[in-house]
Amino acid sequence: MSKRPKVTVVGAGNVGATCALELARRDAYDVVLVDIVENLPQGKALDVDQMGAVLGFEPIVTGANDYEPTAGSDVVVITAGRPRAPGMSRDDLVQTNEQIVGSVTREAVAQSPEAILVVVSNPLDAMCHVAKSVSGWPKQRVVGMAGILDTSRFRTFVAWETGASVKDVQTLVLGGHGDQMVPLVSATAVGGVPLAQLVARDRIDDMVERTAKGGGEIVQLLGTSAWYAPGAAAAQMVDAIMLDEKRLLPCTAYLEGEYGIDGLYMGVPVKLGRDGVEEIVELELSDDEQHALEASAEAVREVVAVLSA
Ligand code: NAI
Ligand code: 2OP
Repeated sequence: MSKRPKVTVVGAGNVGATCALELARRDAYDVVLVDIVENLPQGKALDVDQMGAVLGFEPIVTGANDYEPTAGSDVVVITAGRPRAPGMSRDDLVQTNEQIVGSVTREAVAQSPEAILVVVSNPLDAMCHVAKSVSGWPKQRVVGMAGILDTSRFRTFVAWETGASVKDVQTLVLGGHGDQMVPLVSATAVGGVPLAQLVARDRIDDMVERTAKGGGEIVQLLGTSAWYAPGAAAAQMVDAIMLDEKRLLPCTAYLEGEYGIDGLYMGVPVKLGRDGVEEIVELELSDDEQHALEASAEAVREVVAVLSA
């Protein structure tokens, strides 16, 4: 019997399968992939297990249509739900995905009462509220993935613009996971050199706008939403938790007064470790950034208000 930590990924679609594959390749976790579609998680799990023979890793991935095999999971990643189609905003998804995320949370937490929930399903900020309210768990143990993805988009555009390695681009994107997210130019640097010293203001504005609309850009191209970067971002959060890395990552956390926002899930820098969200880091924002964050919070509140519970 394996003694590796157990990670459950619910939803064996594009994002869930990518996340499960990333996790399997770490050689560090047992992964259980759950979906309502019969044979889908089992088939994908088998495929990933067989990939280990080609690439030389030792995966233990199990596919299931029920939650029994997930019992005792350390982390549960929730990717179940519908993705965005062209012309559909993230917020249009709210009612359908509220039902799905609610039922998934109920079943998952019954099997794994000590786990940490990493929510990915959209509309992300509102789905974090659903997972927290259905589980009844403390805010430290219910966290959302969006900021790592949004930040990866901004980092990519900055790397292209400056011709520098993406590895040397540091930035932060705060706020809700919607078009009003707040890419923080003041916290953006390339190898420690502030972005504003390297790139003209109008080009920075273009990159900020492209980042905020980055999810929609991929939906326009593919007819569905992104999955490679999102799946990898969720796996990075699992590592931060399971390896107790104490990483400072932009994640969607429940705010109780931080940044002047109360009772709302929003993207902020958090310290992520074995206890989940161990700290919310408060940055000093300029007046413009604070106003942008408040506008983003207002947009999130409007979606949360659509939730039935
Ligand atoms: P997908 O359609 O490829 O996969 C979703 C899977 O969920 C399907 O296989 C479906 O059968 C399954 N599912 C539906 N109801 C279920 C239930 N009750 N129990 C278990 N499984 C169930 O969609 P994709 O592309 O994987 O996206 C998944 C979600 O993640 C969407 O809501 C999408 O908008 C969101 N997303 C969020 C991102 C973020 O940054 N937070 C980034 C990318 C996607
Ligand atoms: C994304 O940002 C749609 O949330 C998804 O790609």
